[in-house]
Amino acid sequence: MFCDKMAYLWSCAMLLVNLILGVTDGLNVSYPTCVIGAGYSGLGAARYLKEYGVDFKVLEATRHVGGTWRFDPHVGSDEDGLPLFTSMYKNLRTNTPRQTMEYSGFPFPEDTPSYPTSTCFYRYLKNFTKEFDFEKHIQFRSLVTDVKWAGGHWNVTYHRTDTRVNQTEPCGFLIIASGEYRKPVMPKFIGQDTFRGTVIHSHDYKDPETYRGRRVLLVGAGASGLDLATHLSNVTAKLVHSHHLAYNQPYFGPNYVKKPDILSFTTDGVVFKDDSFEEIDDVIFCTGYDYEHSFLDKSCGITATSKFLLPLYQHMVNIRYPSMVFIGVPKKVINRVLDAQGQYAAALAAKKFELPSGQAMLRAWLDNAYKLQAKGMTMIDINVIGDEMDNYFATLSKEAGVVRAPPVLSTIRDFNAKNRLEDLLNYRDYDYKLLDDKHYERLYNLRKNHTCPIED
Ligand SMILES: Cc1cc2nc3c(=O)[nH]c(=O)nc-3n(C[C@H](O)[C@H](O)[C@H](O)COP(=O)(O)OP(=O)(O)OC[C@H]3O[C@@H](n4cnc5c(N)ncnc54)[C@H](O)[C@@H]3O)c2cc1C
Ligand SMILES: *[C@@H]1O[C@H](CO)[C@@H](O)[C@H](O)[C@H]1NC(C)=O
Ligand SMILES: *[C@@H]1O[C@H](CO)[C@@H](O)[C@H](O)[C@H]1NC(C)=O
Ligand SMILES: *[C@@H]1O[C@H](CO)[C@@H](O)[C@H](O)[C@H]1NC(C)=O
Ligand SMILES: *[C@@H]1O[C@H](CO)[C@@H](O)[C@H](O)[C@H]1NC(C)=O
Ligand SMILES: *[C@@H]1O[C@H](CO)[C@@H](O)[C@H](O)[C@H]1NC(C)=O
Ligand SMILES: *[C@@H]1O[C@H](CO)[C@@H](O)[C@H](O)[C@H]1NC(C)=O
Repeated sequence: MFCDKMAYLWSCAMLLVNLILGVTDGLNVSYPTCVIGAGYSGLGAARYLKEYGVDFKVLEATRHVGGTWRFDPHVGSDEDGLPLFTSMYKNLRTNTPRQTMEYSGFPFPEDTPSYPTSTCFYRYLKNFTKEFDFEKHIQFRSLVTDVKWAGGHWNVTYHRTDTRVNQTEPCGFLIIASGEYRKPVMPKFIGQDTFRGTVIHSHDYKDPETYRGRRVLLVGAGASGLDLATHLSNVTAKLVHSHHLAYNQPYFGPNYVKKPDILSFTTDGVVFKDDSFEEIDDVIFCTGYDYEHSFLDKSCGITATSKFLLPLYQHMVNIRYPSMVFIGVPKKVINRVLDAQGQYAAALAAKKFELPSGQAMLRAWLDNAYKLQAKGMTMIDINVIGDEMDNYFATLSKEAGVVRAPPVLSTIRDFNAKNRLEDLLNYRDYDYKLLDDKHYERLYNLRKNHTCPIED
């Protein structure tokens, strides 16, 4: 058929876009802009929506702002019976310098260490919400369950945990900021059903005390796996760490054992691929998160899988219906990208700039796809920004007047990512100071004082 031939890919894509384009006409501007989620991303967008005088409303599932930065002692479901969205645990300190995480023009107090605790970051988010005074726009206890294209606007259906009623809200413009680190990836191994110990995902991990004196298996060496290794190695009777990351492994103490990948479970332990066996009481899978956008109806025109979303212009805009914008989808970026995306989304909602035509947006999307392909990446990487991050900031600034994040932030990101793997136990003992747009200095933090200067 016509669309099967690679040579016709372009014409075919154009045809599809042309078919869709007419439908986006006749937006009903009298409907408000809606934001799903009041975490870092949704709050950032709210600040700009207010600044630009847009009529808006934030729908937040929980009773709280802050998203994943709020520690919740509940496991599994929260105080209102909703699945727990936050993945926060005790003693967490950021693994990236705060300078890469701050909202534009809203720095932490100067005496805040560069790697603050999650408690401090949560206070920062609450303080931000108060300073910009938009809490009255947030409707709490409203879990969005369905988003439909209703021909000219979005029908956003949500469940209220206070009244137990389901309501549908028409939204002229929709910003989706529901978080991308909340649906655990849970692997399954041979014999796992017969294992008599406990098995959780790091999403449900809360407190090292749970593991005092126990024989614990950590699986994975991503951000969570490495962090939990440092939190648990001096508490557990034995800490077995199964992963295949090549990094400068620090000395975790005499009770730490590194293992290759898991082969199978027995009733009381785990066999690894080198045929070695360890008796285990508790397993924590630090195996990452899947995307979760099950509230998107087919009519939204978005292909949403557990690993990628498409097609999105600038990693944000729904190309078929550009009155839908996602924040937080890009991978391998600093938090400041989410702030820039919030400003872009708000500027679009406020009609401060015009998007290119559907064809041009699709072309840009395909250009990026081909570029990734040339680098040996696959469709799973379609939302990766990575090394293109500084260009991305520049592009958003040029297109939509977004405050340009200085290149020094990308430099710090690169250094921190490397340094974390070289000096895992000590990389947070330094503070960063921005000298100008391109340069920073990194100083040993003699204070060893992690008090948070922001009041609760
Ligand atoms: C444990 C952990 C540590 C991290 N540490 C760092 C770090 O050190 N540095 C860094 O740069 N990044 C870090 N991150 C990444 C982190 O995700 C971002 O910092 C940031 O919190 C993303 O904000 P968000 O608003 O996009 O998502 P979230 O913080 O997840 O907020 C999403 C909000 O949407 C709400 N919501 C979700 N679904 C619905 C729905 N259907 N209806 C209504 N509301 C909904 C949730 O309740 C939540 O309030 C970490 C992530 C985790 C999980
Ligand atoms: C636009 O919105 C207004 C008020 O919300 C409504 O009365 C009107 O019917 C809508 N028009 C269209 C074309 O949907
Ligand atoms: C959108 O919601 C309104 C009000 O609930 C309803 O009348 C309309 O049929 C819905 N449209 C679609 C496409 O579901
Ligand atoms: C509300 O929506 C939820 C989720 O879609 C559904 O399970 C529930 O039955 C609905 N409740 C009512 C009262 O309609
Ligand atoms: C274990 O190590 C962590 C990280 O270095 C430290 O914060 C914690 O206080 C230590 N706990 C104990 C019981 O020594
Ligand atoms: C830690 O820092 C805070 C704020 O900078 C200061 O008020 C406090 O006295 C310091 N505490 C110690 C033990 O140095
Ligand atoms: C935010 O925090 C700063 C620093 O602690 C403080 O001066 C300010 O009053 C706080 N703002 C609000 C609204 O609480």
